[in-house]
Amino acid sequence: MSSKVDVLLGLQWGDEGKGKIVDVLTPHYDVIARFQGGPNAGHTLEFNNIKHVLHTIPSGIFHPGKKNIVGNGVVIDPVILKKEIDALVKMGVDINAQLYVSRKAHIILPTHCALDMASEADKGKKKIGSTLKGIGPTYMDKTGRNGLRVGDLFISNFQERYNSLKAKHERILEQYDFEYDISEKEALWHEGVELLKKLRIIDSEHYVNREMNAGKRVLAEGAQGSLLDIDFGSYPFVTSSNTISAGACTGLGVAPNKIGDVIGIFKAYCTRVGSGPFPTELHDADGDLMRKEGNEFGATTGRPRRCGWIDLPALKYAIMINGVTQLNMTKADVLSVFDEIKVCTHYEYEGNRIDYLPYDINSDDLSPVYITVPGWKKDLTNLHDEENFPVELSSYITLLENELQVPITVVSVGPNRNQTILRKPIHA
Ligand code: GDP
Ligand code: IMO
Ligand code: MG
Repeated sequence: MSSKVDVLLGLQWGDEGKGKIVDVLTPHYDVIARFQGGPNAGHTLEFNNIKHVLHTIPSGIFHPGKKNIVGNGVVIDPVILKKEIDALVKMGVDINAQLYVSRKAHIILPTHCALDMASEADKGKKKIGSTLKGIGPTYMDKTGRNGLRVGDLFISNFQERYNSLKAKHERILEQYDFEYDISEKEALWHEGVELLKKLRIIDSEHYVNREMNAGKRVLAEGAQGSLLDIDFGSYPFVTSSNTISAGACTGLGVAPNKIGDVIGIFKAYCTRVGSGPFPTELHDADGDLMRKEGNEFGATTGRPRRCGWIDLPALKYAIMINGVTQLNMTKADVLSVFDEIKVCTHYEYEGNRIDYLPYDINSDDLSPVYITVPGWKKDLTNLHDEENFPVELSSYITLLENELQVPITVVSVGPNRNQTILRKPIHA
């Protein structure tokens, strides 16, 4: 019997703990496939005293025998991919057996990164806060129909096409007051390309559909978060791809009627890295405490993450856009330090109380309305079953489930693989 693709994605502004949860769920799947984004992502996994951050490679890679696919919707920087592969090979991962790359995935050029930096520098105070990995310029070339794809690496005039695209970028870069030197990166890039050519390059849309038709279980792994989606996020402070569940259809070649569960990951509070609106952001000691307890520093850039209370109107929006069928809550343990926890249930906007995200979430006239609930003030990091949850944590979960109308099936209480409580069997 043919199966469907389950999609796992972030419901906030990224870094919800997607990598950790994908790693936990991988034993229940046969194939893990990334469908969008690129090395702007940093997905952290922890197990057996190993802490590892993945950028391009799906988070199922540490489970021998599981297939990991970099889908057509992903943009690949060969320099970063090579670094990731070199590190995994050292750790004993069988890349040849486990990693597959779509022929249709687009390639990030060194000049794409230079363009990203020049554009951000030019924006000054209005900068997006990009990770500067060349994501925006690469997707612009994709939609502008100029891009280079993995399959192009094998055609005879590849170098010519590379030179021509690089020259085009150099002409654009001349318009910026920006100095750059890509010579070192370019040499590494060519090394990366040579490695990329030796990987298993596939028509991933056919591959994924064949696996599904054979009844294999496929999990699509999202990057970034729904509020960074190019269409539905806090534009222009977003990334350049569709991070929502629909992105799994275009980023893997899976038809909408082949999507099964949509697993939405959210933190028990909220964070954002980079610029842009964040209604529940805390600028006080509570925010500092969340950052410290949650170790909220970017996995890709090391930047401190902005922290704040959970935002239900924003989560409801993300649940609607994605068609979320299951919620997974991470970092519940981080809230153990607080006597009281705040939950944003509404916004005050232009004199009215609303429970949805307005078009202009940048507005100075938008402020969160909170309810306050008691904290649990107990260490959760050694919990293994729900029976031992403090009553205040159970009430917090019930409150969120009632508000969001979707069951919370997984609660994560620490960064490690085994600090995870399943409230319902996977594939029940
Ligand atoms: P991703 O981009 O969604 O995969 O998330 P990141 O890896 O960028 O950031 C999540 C961070 O939180 C990582 O450092 C994880 O190791 C850590 N983490 C994940 N789940 C939990 C949890 O339940 N509790 C705590 N304390 N840390 C967690
Ligand atoms: P993961 O997959 C958090 C943010 C950047 C910036 C904006 C645009 O680890 O959750 P880009 O480099 O895409 O041009 O940056 O998006 N951003 C992320 N924030 N987690 C991520 O990925 C992110 N990827 C991009 O900080 O605000
Ligand atoms: Mg991350």
